[in-house]
Amino acid sequence: MAVSVGVLADESRALIAGYLLRITRGWGRVRLKLATSLDGRTAMASGESQWITGPQARADVQRLRAESSVILTGIGTVIADDCALTVRAEQLPLTPEERDRALAHAPLRVLLDSEGRLDQGSQIISDAARTLIFHANDTVPAPFLAAIPTVKTQAVSRGTHGLDLRSILAHLGEEGANEILIEAGATLAAAFIEQNLVDELVIYQAPRLLGSSGKAMLALSFDRLAETPELRLIEVSRVGDDLRIIATPT
Ligand SMILES: NC(=O)c1ccc[n+]([C@@H]2O[C@H](COP(=O)([O-])OP(=O)(O)OC[C@H]3O[C@@H](n4cnc5c(N)ncnc54)[C@H](OP(=O)(O)O)[C@@H]3O)[C@@H](O)[C@H]2O)c1
Repeated sequence: MAVSVGVLADESRALIAGYLLRITRGWGRVRLKLATSLDGRTAMASGESQWITGPQARADVQRLRAESSVILTGIGTVIADDCALTVRAEQLPLTPEERDRALAHAPLRVLLDSEGRLDQGSQIISDAARTLIFHANDTVPAPFLAAIPTVKTQAVSRGTHGLDLRSILAHLGEEGANEILIEAGATLAAAFIEQNLVDELVIYQAPRLLGSSGKAMLALSFDRLAETPELRLIEVSRVGDDLRIIATPT
């Protein structure tokens, strides 16, 4: 009997990319999703930001969420948007069976909230999915969290700014998370980039200009061009009226 070796090897590796990273370095693939205007702004100075991109791009984000083990955000985004960070399966082109499966394996919502600033009643701690909240090991989680069965809290050490991101990723790796999707604001997104912790950027860019008073995509600042991170474009495609750019750090 003839045996073929290496059939669809690249495709197979791509399918289990997050798993391979987790078993070799301790945490899964980290993807950073950002939605921006064509001039790279994510919100107006007032904070108004919802629906920069169109319905097809938003549905594509739902697909990304459904593919992820974890959706991770910062307390700044939760306070500004009261986001639920759930998979809205009705926006995905799925059969009823696939939809049930997607909902049964809803991604874990992860919130970085060093000081315990989360409000009771926030959508991120609704019982629509499980939530893990990381807080600094010198603070005590709010008592109301202990009464919510779908919420867990985890103390972690502080890093130079905010919580120690490597410890958080290692903890998520131990929990078996292969695919980590970051949907955070400019502060936390920049921290992941600065610490070289992002494997892939997924940027949805809308054909709209928010102007120079709009909020920057990443809270990064450099003095010299030589210090700026360079990216490699993996894919540029059109999603409805928006662009989807996939890039990796070089
Ligand atoms: N366009 C998009 O794709 C997109 C996506 C998400 C959000 N947003 C927008 O972004 C805005 C919120 O942005 P933001 O910058 O205020 O919030 P953020 O980046 O989501 O959260 C920042 C907070 O996370 C906490 N944190 C814990 N550990 C950290 C670490 N190691 N590094 C950095 N932060 C850490 C800090 O608060 P503590 O010190 O209190 O823990 C920090 O202030 C909102 O207007 C939202 O609409 C846009």
